[in-house]
Amino acid sequence: ILVPMFCKSWLLGCLLILFNVLLLYFTATTLERRKWQKMAKKTGNPHVAYPQNYRFILDQPKKCEHQKPFVVVIVPVAPQNTEARNAIRTTWGSDELVWDKLVLVLFLLGSQSANETLQEQLQNESREYQDLLQSNFLDSYRNLTIKTLVMMEWLSRNCRQASYGVKVDADVLLNMKNLLRMLVSLKSLQHNYITGLVLSGNIVSRDPSSKFYVPHDILQPHINMDKCR
Ligand SMILES: *[C@@H]1O[C@H](CO)[C@@H](O)[C@H](O)[C@H]1NC(C)=O
Ligand SMILES: *[C@@H]1O[C@H](CO)[C@@H](O)[C@H](O)[C@H]1NC(C)=O
Ligand SMILES: *[C@@H]1O[C@H](CO)[C@@H](O)[C@H](O)[C@H]1NC(C)=O
Repeated sequence: ILVPMFCKSWLLGCLLILFNVLLLYFTATTLERRKWQKMAKKTGNPHVAYPQNYRFILDQPKKCEHQKPFVVVIVPVAPQNTEARNAIRTTWGSDELVWDKLVLVLFLLGSQSANETLQEQLQNESREYQDLLQSNFLDSYRNLTIKTLVMMEWLSRNCRQASYGVKVDADVLLNMKNLLRMLVSLKSLQHNYITGLVLSGNIVSRDPSSKFYVPHDILQPHINMDKCR
């Protein structure tokens, strides 16, 4: 076929441009995927499934029943963070009676089963203070959702007679008197009640490098949620 000269160079130009566009697109997507994979390797993929088949290695199943607390405070903490537990035991966690109300403070841990020395230390700590609850899922940042669900499960199984359950992070200095004053001021006992610092209209983070990253396959809609902290 006879193709005029200008048409040939035009076609070549087109092909070159198309090729470049494809190459750019390919590099961009592989770079994005690489970044993602690197992130996932560093933090682990968020663990969604909660098969409810975790069991407690260290437990205090009768403590609530015996002490009949008004409030049960549960502190999620990493197994190796003995320092935070001791700080809480000697500060805001030390009073069992606040404004005539009984308070029970317990720590909730996941496991680091590979470290036997640590496990032995925890057994000793549990014997000494009798305030450790340890479940057998792997303790990690991405598994904090499991920790929260295990906490609720434990409360509903072992602490039905308590009026309120409170979740407090290990790096928080809790003003127990204020908390109790607030709960008592509610006059009647609240049901289906949840409170905390309310952050309204929060945006779901889609940035893979963010600590609070939530991929689309875990939470689809881009809703602005109210969160309780
Ligand atoms: C195991 O736990 C002990 C006590 O907390 C700690 O000193 C040690 O570094 C840990 N070992 C490993 C391999 O993580
Ligand atoms: C745990 O306690 C036992 C008995 O008191 C002691 O012999 C052992 O060294 C302790 N283990 C750890 C890891 O601290
Ligand atoms: C979460 O815990 C489960 C159960 O122990 C474990 O299989 C999984 O690897 C953990 N995930 C992360 C990201 O630590």
